[in-house]
Amino acid sequence: MSSSIESSIVFITGGNRGLGRGLVSTYLLRPATTVIAGVRNPLHELAQSLQQLPVASGSRIIVIEADVASTPSMQTAIQSLASQGIDRLDLVIANAALTPSKLEPLLSTPSADIEQMTRTNGLGILNLYRETQPLLLNSASPTPAFVHMAALTGSNKLAQTALKSFPMGAFGGSKALGHFFVTKLAGEEQNQVLIFNLDPGEVRSETYLQLRGDYRGDDRSRSPEESAKNVCKIIDGATKESCHGKFLNEEGAEAPF
Ligand SMILES: NC(=O)c1ccc[n+]([C@@H]2O[C@H](COP(=O)([O-])OP(=O)(O)OC[C@H]3O[C@@H](n4cnc5c(N)ncnc54)[C@H](OP(=O)(O)O)[C@@H]3O)[C@@H](O)[C@H]2O)c1
Repeated sequence: MSSSIESSIVFITGGNRGLGRGLVSTYLLRPATTVIAGVRNPLHELAQSLQQLPVASGSRIIVIEADVASTPSMQTAIQSLASQGIDRLDLVIANAALTPSKLEPLLSTPSADIEQMTRTNGLGILNLYRETQPLLLNSASPTPAFVHMAALTGSNKLAQTALKSFPMGAFGGSKALGHFFVTKLAGEEQNQVLIFNLDPGEVRSETYLQLRGDYRGDDRSRSPEESAKNVCKIIDGATKESCHGKFLNEEGAEAPF
């Protein structure tokens, strides 16, 4: 994605904690950048503490309530941006996701949990694109972008191989729906928005650490801050030719999908 514009407006969902907070902090340290952090509860102390993050010259943070699992919430969130003087977006990072609190085989995962994950991680991605696309089309950047924080757990190919017995099937299925929507949007959209899936790799968020307790695989994780820097680097180098509609891994290479 070109960074030649003089100022950028970035919208990051799930910006209060984990990788989302790392991304918010990283973009705020770039000059002349407006970072919009979507949070479920703006009154929560973690959301409030976003206002204390260090900012570069000419940069600012706007915190808005945005529940990606709710269409009315997303509509209200985007409408509220106009009153803050925001009439365009240059980059949207679909970071928010609902992850289960324990590893569990698909068959024993309650249907209500699967429905909630699918609404958030699948339909939520489509909702977010629907609501933000008009603002992305107003972008001052030559390459406005919509980037989905994907997960290899939701790769159909890996579900047949390396992750065959990894007990995160319900989460994987919900992420796979988000991946598919992103790929289809990239194909259907005849516009200037660069759209792709990017797996950030293992991120030591609290959610990750809680799940990690149950699992004994290799630990290749990075802190949310390190992961955010890596994600930003890949997004900075993204072009329509190299990334549009693709599923990339934490090295920016195409991943099995
Ligand atoms: N951590 C990893 O190792 C890893 C690996 C691969 C991919 N990823 C992906 O990277 C992203 C970030 O991961 P993470 O570990 O940092 O996640 P996390 O710590 O669990 O944080 C998730 C964020 O999403 C928000 N969220 C959940 N449901 C939401 C909803 N309906 N509407 C709006 N926000 C909602 C949470 O808000 P609340 O605070 O209100 O709950 C929180 O801010 C996710 O998309 C994840 O799937 C992570």
